[in-house]
Amino acid sequence: MRKYLLEDEWLIIEEGFDTENHRRSESLFSLGNGHMGLRANFEEDYSGPTLRGTYIAGIYYPDKTKVGWWKNGYPEYFAKVLNAPNWIGFKIRFDQNVLDLNKMTVTRFRRVLNMKEGVLAREFEASWPDGRTVKVETVRFVSLVRRELGVIQYRLTPLNFSGTLQAELYVDGDVINEDANYDEKFWEPVEHSIHEGYCFLKSRTKKSGFEVCYGMSSELIRIQTGEKIFPEIASATDYVNNRYVLEAKQDESLVFTKFVAVTTSRDYSDNQLRKQAIKVLENSISQGYASLYAEQVDAWAQSWKLSDIRIEGDISAQQGIRFNIFHLNQTYTGHDPRLNIGPKGFTGEKYGGSTYWDTEAYCVPFYLNTADRRVARNLLVYRYNHLGKAIENAEKLGFRNGAALFPMVTINGEECHNEWEITFEEIHRNGAIAYAIYNYIRHTGDDMYLAEYGLEVLIAISRFWAQRFTYSDPKQQFVILGVTGPNEYENNVNNNWYTNYIASWTLAYTLECIGQIRSSNPDDFTRITGKTHFDPDTEARRWETIVNHVYFPESKELGVFLQQEGYLDKEQILASDLNPEERPLNQHWSWDRILRSCFIKQADVLQGLYFFEDHFSKEIIRRNFDFYESRTVHESSLSPCIHSILAARIRYTDKAYELYLRNSRLDLDDYNHEVHEGCHITSMAGTWLAIVEGFGGMKVTNDRLFLDPVLPRTWKSLSFSIRFRGHVLAIRIERNKIRIEDTENRQINIHIGKKQYSLKKGQPIEVPL
Ligand code: BGC
Repeated sequence: MRKYLLEDEWLIIEEGFDTENHRRSESLFSLGNGHMGLRANFEEDYSGPTLRGTYIAGIYYPDKTKVGWWKNGYPEYFAKVLNAPNWIGFKIRFDQNVLDLNKMTVTRFRRVLNMKEGVLAREFEASWPDGRTVKVETVRFVSLVRRELGVIQYRLTPLNFSGTLQAELYVDGDVINEDANYDEKFWEPVEHSIHEGYCFLKSRTKKSGFEVCYGMSSELIRIQTGEKIFPEIASATDYVNNRYVLEAKQDESLVFTKFVAVTTSRDYSDNQLRKQAIKVLENSISQGYASLYAEQVDAWAQSWKLSDIRIEGDISAQQGIRFNIFHLNQTYTGHDPRLNIGPKGFTGEKYGGSTYWDTEAYCVPFYLNTADRRVARNLLVYRYNHLGKAIENAEKLGFRNGAALFPMVTINGEECHNEWEITFEEIHRNGAIAYAIYNYIRHTGDDMYLAEYGLEVLIAISRFWAQRFTYSDPKQQFVILGVTGPNEYENNVNNNWYTNYIASWTLAYTLECIGQIRSSNPDDFTRITGKTHFDPDTEARRWETIVNHVYFPESKELGVFLQQEGYLDKEQILASDLNPEERPLNQHWSWDRILRSCFIKQADVLQGLYFFEDHFSKEIIRRNFDFYESRTVHESSLSPCIHSILAARIRYTDKAYELYLRNSRLDLDDYNHEVHEGCHITSMAGTWLAIVEGFGGMKVTNDRLFLDPVLPRTWKSLSFSIRFRGHVLAIRIERNKIRIEDTENRQINIHIGKKQYSLKKGQPIEVPL
């Protein structure tokens, strides 16, 4: 854990410059707008440790797989989100003195991420060895309104000297990924040009052939005189710039404004790329910096209106949840169903920027509750659009008849993860995709989704499960052999309880959906069964047989479900008995030792109890929680939140709070010593879940909304909004009462604790707790 940031409700603040923290801060202070994003790299040169990161959603490179020993079925490549041409560059120089904070004495350094406004600001004073000192104040944002626009304002003041300033504002296409299997460069230059006073750089990704066009324009104003200075514009292979050379006077502020438009061949044809960039630049420049800024503040205010969570009495928790919500909203906006959410979003290269089960299991509920339903729907449609590839993927592994195995990791529908124990065995991801369909429909009431898209996916996934179950003669039951459950600290186990449960549930749910569509939309039923060649008699009958005879390992003696058949054969030790110096285990123990140990990386049985809470009594949940949480080392960022929710449900409120804080401040306080690689974006959705589903006690059962709140000791109140079936409910929980207001729809029944209440639009209710 490393705490170096100041606590504030809306701001993330770093004071004082420590090169040790810089890579961490680059991740934490990242900006994005769904279309593109970037780490908080400095605009000017920086020769210290840094991870340069500029990302454009959906632009990837298929990096040829590198493994020690090739196994049939391995994917050919790992798709990587690319560090794209750098558009923030400012080279600042007075004679031979180049502005580089790594080589200067830095004072009054302050970096601020304003989460309310979606803006990153920085200020400092820096001196060269010859004593010359400059003051710099910068502000930048990527526009939430004009997705292809990035803006920087850079104010430079020589504090104790006058001299000749050479400033170069540039876009640099000569960039590399830190993570490249063969140290290759992933981009090649295509074109550079100057046109209508703007300069343009076009680059293309190798193999995948995406083109991006960056258009740049800038202006400089001497603040004291109001004089406008125009740059010399130049372009060269991989580098375009605006150059200013002028006499800078002591104490006189020079303010540069840089506008950059980024268009891509994902959205425009080749001959439109530059035209569109010009359009973005023209419109933005005519609007002016102040108005673009105001527009940004407004757009973020709209976003916060739906998604903000307020916690009174605990500034650390407040900052934590806003930080998580901010990143989620700047990573994915749902405007494009071809996009999804990489575990690191726009904050780093790790995980390749690809889609994991994290989206369905963690992120979907966040967007369902805080954004228009189109946003979560697009996440589902993303998988629907990959159904063909998921069927091909299953065929490669030997499955037939339209069975689908969605990839563990993907960017375009093809599997690109290449650790066999995950690629081939972590098949529970199929279950999360089915569960997300169920979750979406019960939350929104959008039954049409099933007929339009959902059922085809469910049938294909169920076919996979039906073929993946084996009938065991000795057990006289269906079993699933050789899997990795959510706990990746065990591989190739038999009968992982969670996988068996979600597989069996998927079959049952698909049968239910088939029955529903068959009676309510017979035309759709005929269309879908025709398209999928589904045989409602033989296939459905086999699925029913499986559902009724699945083997679920459990220990009657301990009263718990078994993570897998052999779990109790392992030496049983508690996480509290581990030497703290050996944690995290994955950085201290051999992999072999981890696999043989009973230690659990993340919720596994408990993930199932979380998804299917209503199938189990509180007592069963409590017993399993006690058993498994004490053996869990939470070395996946996805872990603490699920435990926090269950802990809140069984009223282990202090434990729930401890786990919540760990989840929400995982990156801010760098619990796992890895924030320098990027933030854990998908687990941020888990923080939201921990508050709303954990402390708010929100759940949907049989189409009805339930709240059963419990507040951590220090919280005076908790307020949040949720969307549910056309209602927008503003909820405020205090220690002794709950207030709910519906701002959108006519009437809804809500269960609070054990009682049902009727809520009418504009007539808030207040219920004692
Ligand atoms: C977790 C997986 C997760 C992945 C990406 C891994 O550490 O074990 O469950 O999908 O990270 O977040």
